[in-house]
Amino acid sequence: MDKPIIIAIDGFSSSGKSTMARRLASTIGYRYIDSGAMYRAVTLFALEANYIDADGNIDKEALTAALPHIHIDFEPQADGSQHTLLNGVDVENEIRRLRVSNAVSQIAAVPEVRHALVAMQKKLGEARGIVMDGRDIGSVVFPDAELKIYVDASAETRARRRFKEMIEKGSQVSYEDVLANVVHRDHIDTTRAESPLRRADDAIAIDNSDMSIEEQDAWLLDQFNRVMSK
Ligand code: DC
Repeated sequence: MDKPIIIAIDGFSSSGKSTMARRLASTIGYRYIDSGAMYRAVTLFALEANYIDADGNIDKEALTAALPHIHIDFEPQADGSQHTLLNGVDVENEIRRLRVSNAVSQIAAVPEVRHALVAMQKKLGEARGIVMDGRDIGSVVFPDAELKIYVDASAETRARRRFKEMIEKGSQVSYEDVLANVVHRDHIDTTRAESPLRRADDAIAIDNSDMSIEEQDAWLLDQFNRVMSK
């Protein structure tokens, strides 16, 4: 294959898929898009506009009406990473906080939100040469992606990773709260009516619970090279 391809990487929260996706994109010179960050940005918008009450109920009508006014961009950083912009404001740190993590699955289950974000994601893929990670990238956003990966890891492994990440960023959280959030989100993400997380039939599965980052990188690069040599 000599044209740039689309690579879809799906999996549970904190499965390490973003790390894999970002590192592969940087190695092969593709654009990386974190679709979860887009759902997180919409959640932050909804929280700030008070569209979510204290019990977690969402004012879907108000949120749906606001969707055309929610602009999400990614800004490349000097260190090769990228920050998420919500209506021009850098919200990269804000969208990783527990307040957003606790509400994002409910927001991601709203069909109108999904339709709007899937349309944006498809547009981002038009130029190809893209690695996108999420839950429904191989199944809904890019069903024709040339390479689809489905990443899995136990809930405990994933909670430990996210806990470490949050502590490093200065959040004051307990491991128990992070694990509870992971388990709760797994449940919502797999049981929602609108495009639940599932492995696309043609996705290659990997359980990375016992793999180092370097082993993951090597495995993924092999998969990419295999597709490109066809
Ligand atoms: O990957 P993450 O944990 O940052 O994703 C945040 C939430 O967004 C997660 O609870 C599921 C949802 N999501 C989704 O429904 N579809 C995607 N393509 C990406 C994320």
